[in-house]
Amino acid sequence: MIYHESTQTFHLTNGQISYLMKVLPDESLGQLYFGRAIRDRESFDHLLELHHRPMSACVFEGNKLFSLEHCKQEYPVYGTSDFRHPAVALIQPNGSRIVSFVYRSHTVSPGKPALPGLPATYCEADSEAETLTLHLEDKVLNVSLFLSYTLFTSLPALARSVRLENHGSQELHLTTAMSLSLDLPDSDYEFLHFSGAWSRERYLKVRPLEQGIQSVESTRGHSSHNHNPFVMLRRPGTDEDRGEVMGFSLIYSGNFLAQAEVDSWDTTRVTLGINPFHFDWKLSPGESFQTPEGVIVYSNQGMGAMSRTFHTLYRTRLARGEWRDRPRPILINNWEATYFDFTEDKLVSIAQAAKEDGVELFVLDDGWFGARCSDCAGLGDWSANQERLPGGISRLADRIEALGMKFGLWFEPEMVNRDSDLFRAHPDWILQTPDRRVSHGRNQFVLDFSRGEVVDCIYSQMAEILSQAKVSYVKWDMNRSMTEVYSAALPPDRQGEVMHRYMLGVYDLYDRLTRRFPHVLFESCASGGGRFDPGMLYYAPQGWASDDSDGVERQKIQYGTSFCYPLSSIGAHVSAVPNHQINRLTPLSTRANTAVFGTFGYELDLNSLTSEERAQVREQIAFMKEYRQVIQFGDFYRLLSPFEGNFTAWMVVSPDRRTALVGWYKALNEVNGPYRRVRLRGLDPELCYTVDGGSAHYGDELMEVGLCTTDSAAGERQPGQAAAQDFDSHIFVLRA
Ligand code: DGJ
Repeated sequence: MIYHESTQTFHLTNGQISYLMKVLPDESLGQLYFGRAIRDRESFDHLLELHHRPMSACVFEGNKLFSLEHCKQEYPVYGTSDFRHPAVALIQPNGSRIVSFVYRSHTVSPGKPALPGLPATYCEADSEAETLTLHLEDKVLNVSLFLSYTLFTSLPALARSVRLENHGSQELHLTTAMSLSLDLPDSDYEFLHFSGAWSRERYLKVRPLEQGIQSVESTRGHSSHNHNPFVMLRRPGTDEDRGEVMGFSLIYSGNFLAQAEVDSWDTTRVTLGINPFHFDWKLSPGESFQTPEGVIVYSNQGMGAMSRTFHTLYRTRLARGEWRDRPRPILINNWEATYFDFTEDKLVSIAQAAKEDGVELFVLDDGWFGARCSDCAGLGDWSANQERLPGGISRLADRIEALGMKFGLWFEPEMVNRDSDLFRAHPDWILQTPDRRVSHGRNQFVLDFSRGEVVDCIYSQMAEILSQAKVSYVKWDMNRSMTEVYSAALPPDRQGEVMHRYMLGVYDLYDRLTRRFPHVLFESCASGGGRFDPGMLYYAPQGWASDDSDGVERQKIQYGTSFCYPLSSIGAHVSAVPNHQINRLTPLSTRANTAVFGTFGYELDLNSLTSEERAQVREQIAFMKEYRQVIQFGDFYRLLSPFEGNFTAWMVVSPDRRTALVGWYKALNEVNGPYRRVRLRGLDPELCYTVDGGSAHYGDELMEVGLCTTDSAAGERQPGQAAAQDFDSHIFVLRA
């Protein structure tokens, strides 16, 4: 970090990116530049817009040049000559909402401090990053604002967060506290986001930025299937390999807002943070508020490079624990095989078949606890259902371990059914508004995780099971959005805090469990991918990406997910046909060829397959065991987008570039189609690679000319040739 006292200019740079700020004439903080690294200089004051524009409000009487409407700002406020949406808003006892934060001082420290109670990126050595903390102050209110910027030494990534401290004597209400705000000098960008719904999560959407506001958000209490707390701004013409793009990612799992506001002069303001909608945090004297962390990644080499930066950062410095760097176990999950209809012996028979084929972990999903014989009962009572599992979880886990497999267990810690002992004992422990009907979702209600005693109760139930039985993996589910949000434990003027306090409760439970049971691999889930976000990744290094396990639908979901999240985090399984979500028939090979580009597992009873299919399964598992290190920890490249055509392709390359796998997928078969090639990425141009152990090609040829993907059955089928069909796929194995 370079600081020029004479011009009060801050230059954050790591040789890859530069981030420039300066103290403005009114002592607030201005933004000058963010992008590719540039040479430093004493003054960048010429970048400040100090021009007179009729109708502009100006800060100082007699001075027509300085308006906050036209100066790019770092953490803007509304109503002091800027009319756009602010990064921070405080309501004061006298009814005023006007605030003004001026620069006081700054500190620079090596490494990165933790954010108490919140997930965040971290460093393992001080040399990995540098953190600048700017201290600003509202002198009237005596409120301190700390803006924190961590620049990673070897990545074009900047992590930002904000803390407010009320040192005054007044009760304040914080109604907006964004994690970051970034004013960009033009609007020549496309806005990319990931939207969808249950079973079609994270579909890539692209639209040009226009004057006005474009945003995605969640108001559901979880980051949601509908939008993801990750957006990109890219220059028109930017693709996977070329062009300028910035990714904005919020490390948070609750209500968020990601917004781009383009003003009348075509400047763009990006804001990212907790959704101000229904947010109202009382900041009493002596109290402070910490925002979640937002991460910005810059690339001038296309979206592929941006994604690989996020993958590296999130895989190695957001995910934590014993499982962070370990290849993930190949699992079998009984949900789609049995739903609620199982016995202990049935489960063991599913596990046994899986073990024979090489599966390493058996996961018992929903239905094992309390009075859970359907989705109407049992949530909240985390002890084994005596009818289905008379020997309890311990005996089942022992039997699974005796097979030579590990045992995993499903929980939905945040929920309760009316028909449960927990609800009967504590009917006031759910989120519900006095005198109002309480809506259900899947017959269940949301426990008030803003209350410590509720979290404690669930913690002790879960900890008991995890310490008694041999549990190596936990699937943490969450199957409904929040309604009638209100906490019986908070006073009226703190009800706007409930959604965020709830998230802090969830993080607290995750934190306690992962610390106490460090060997347990946690997988997050929320009706599939309803909470697939960086906040979860901090505690659970993998997440169930979607309930849609169809091999073709999954190509879109996994492709979209890959823009921000590493393959090691993407839970993906092979399931039965006809597929349970979309009723589609796809080849077993394609289901596996899609699922291996993730954490890989099965979601069916292998006993129901033919012996030929079982042989295929054995090959798939052996393949995954051979290549999972490359898949989950290599470099990922998107090649062909399922959102743009009939074909999808992607590839992973080992860090030494000697091994690469290319996943190629066709949706509908074509008659007499073109002779197709796919240009590969990330190979060493000087190395010669064999393709599937056959023909050999140099990396430069494979990257410039391409890999021929049309199979021999294209065009007219010759006698003896395998027929090409709908939903075909192939994984090409390249070895130097
Ligand atoms: C939703 C999850 O996404 C599924 O995988 C399964 O665990 C069910 N819940 C169980 O209720």
